[in-house]
Amino acid sequence: MVYPVLTLNVLNMSIIPRKILVSTALPYANGSIHIGHMLEHIQTDIWVRFQRLRGHESYFVCADDAHGTPIMLKAKAEGISPEELIAGVAVEHTRDFNDFSISFDNYYTTHSPENRELAESIFNALNAAGHIVKRTISQAFDPVEKIFLPDRFIKGSCPRCAAPDQYGDNCENCGATYSPSDLVNPYSALSGATPIEKDTEHYFFALGHFESMLKQWTAGGHIQSEVHNKLKEWFDAGLRDWDISRDAPYFGFNIPGETDKFFYVWLDAPIGYFASFKNYCVSNNIDFEAFIANGADTEMYHFIGKDILYFHTLFWPAMLEGAGLKKPTAVYAHGFLTVNGLKMSKSRGTFISAREYLNHLSPDYLRYYFAAKLNDRVEDLDLNLEDFVARVNADLVGKVVNIASRCAGFLNKRFDNTLSAEHDNSALLTSFAAQSETIAQYFEDRQFSKAIRLITELADQANQYVNDRQPWVLAKNADHNEELHQICSTGINLFRILMCYLSPVLPDLANRVEKFLQSSITHPNAWQDISTPLVDHQMVSFKHLLKRIESKDVDAMVAASTETQDTQKTGDLPTNIPALDSELITIDDFAKVDLRIARIVAAQRVDGSDKLLQLTLDIGHEQRNVFAGISSAYEPEQLVGRLTAMVANLAPRKMRFGISEGMVMATGPGGKELWILSPDDGAQPGMRIK
Ligand code: 2FM
Ligand code: ZN
Repeated sequence: MVYPVLTLNVLNMSIIPRKILVSTALPYANGSIHIGHMLEHIQTDIWVRFQRLRGHESYFVCADDAHGTPIMLKAKAEGISPEELIAGVAVEHTRDFNDFSISFDNYYTTHSPENRELAESIFNALNAAGHIVKRTISQAFDPVEKIFLPDRFIKGSCPRCAAPDQYGDNCENCGATYSPSDLVNPYSALSGATPIEKDTEHYFFALGHFESMLKQWTAGGHIQSEVHNKLKEWFDAGLRDWDISRDAPYFGFNIPGETDKFFYVWLDAPIGYFASFKNYCVSNNIDFEAFIANGADTEMYHFIGKDILYFHTLFWPAMLEGAGLKKPTAVYAHGFLTVNGLKMSKSRGTFISAREYLNHLSPDYLRYYFAAKLNDRVEDLDLNLEDFVARVNADLVGKVVNIASRCAGFLNKRFDNTLSAEHDNSALLTSFAAQSETIAQYFEDRQFSKAIRLITELADQANQYVNDRQPWVLAKNADHNEELHQICSTGINLFRILMCYLSPVLPDLANRVEKFLQSSITHPNAWQDISTPLVDHQMVSFKHLLKRIESKDVDAMVAASTETQDTQKTGDLPTNIPALDSELITIDDFAKVDLRIARIVAAQRVDGSDKLLQLTLDIGHEQRNVFAGISSAYEPEQLVGRLTAMVANLAPRKMRFGISEGMVMATGPGGKELWILSPDDGAQPGMRIK
């Protein structure tokens, strides 16, 4: 059957090129990138790569968020300058993003000449227009460290919802923003001292001046509907002036005309999007000023986490409006990443750094899994590690990649890796290409899970086609040579279409496929080539494209994350500081802990660990396997038959050596001086300790 190549082109819609600036939130320059950051950067990268494939002029920028007291203090603690600290972190961040194939056009820093200049000019414009006010405030001062305490270093209870241990700028529990002085029972996170109040003159941005503009803008389709509802609450609570200055010592930009006052990090951070873009524009001959001008025929999108909505949907558009610049076309917020249904946790080994992930697994797997679960809503996304392995192996490797491996062998052995001039099933190829606008709309709308579902359904159809046509049967009879050639060529072209669709999600795999096909599927505007199959085309020999995930690699990643984080924790935390008031637990909290007497029925050393003993603990109705770091103090045989106390309702924790199902209570400074045994006067295994 002849495949009507040209008629397929009617499927191409003509696309008017757009000019699009896209950003991801700027990571702080004092910590490593982790898989929670990667959720946002992968989501955005998929979207940007899709826009490029559609032929749109797209610029993807980010930067390190380099200012603020935490960075200054960290540098001090390390005995280096803040500039040295941020330079080192920038190298690490850039490498991590690069290795996850995040295709930034520019990754810059907020500590740049462009950002200083833009921050000053936006501030000056706001000031000239009467949107900046100066007021003397009384601010928290750490009497021990002799420093005004930055928002993040004052903790206390939220003035709105009373959640304890909240930072001084916004509440992670209810999303309220406020001044640190509003916190209930504040304490310095630096010294633990109760801050004293000291007078200082600060600069404020009069957010309230922009209330009617903001109400209109936020109702104008620039934000998700659930965010709009949240904003209504914030409007109802009243838009308060925003404190945008900080006193020396501070790492940041001086406020124009001041020597000891600086822009608060959150003032120059979003301006950092522009600074990064400007830096790119200068070396790429793009008119930056025209791009960000009010009324410009351009689009600007910020992808962010739900925790920084206030800054991006209120402060930032108001600053831009006040400075006469273009406001965002849209702010797209995503939820948080959970792992195995829970908040990422260092002790569970699920607080996984980007680098630790890369040490064990290919970035394509995580990109695929996130895409398969992402939608346009502000929902949390769960990385369930078992589901992750199962889905990648079954759908990506088992369905999509499998199509190529089923057809490529025959093409290699019998047809010198050449695709036939005609195809076996043109209707199927047409129907695959006919999905291109539906899939494009899903990508455009950030409905990635819907795109992946449809692509997987197509992969099922392609596999069914190969099953039905049974090339392995035809291969036995030389009379069927041409049919075999056309079937396998059709199979490879079906695979090619699926890989075009998937290329924003899986750029590394797409590059390997391009090498195999000897044909580009990722060039700008490649989407329009989807409906043009490869005919009479020379490829190279098929090489393995993607291996299955091995569960042992996931286990090793979790184990490695558990170990590094635990070590850091012990190194960092003081052990002899009594709880601050705000760290006290209630009687109800205490009642949740199920403390039980346990009989040690077996104890043994753990191969590969010089700290751990593996204990089997009998708590009456069941036995538990527990790993305890007590081998410096006890020989296993000393313990067998004795009683101890354990936390019986601790969530099981995966360790390198197995699952630990509880924890024994120990006291003492460590080494040989460590005691776990409980007195033996009548206690029975399983008894609850009260
Ligand atoms: O929350 C954060 O991690 C900030 N560093 C994000 C800044 S985004 C932008 F506004 F600069
Ligand atoms: Zn709160």
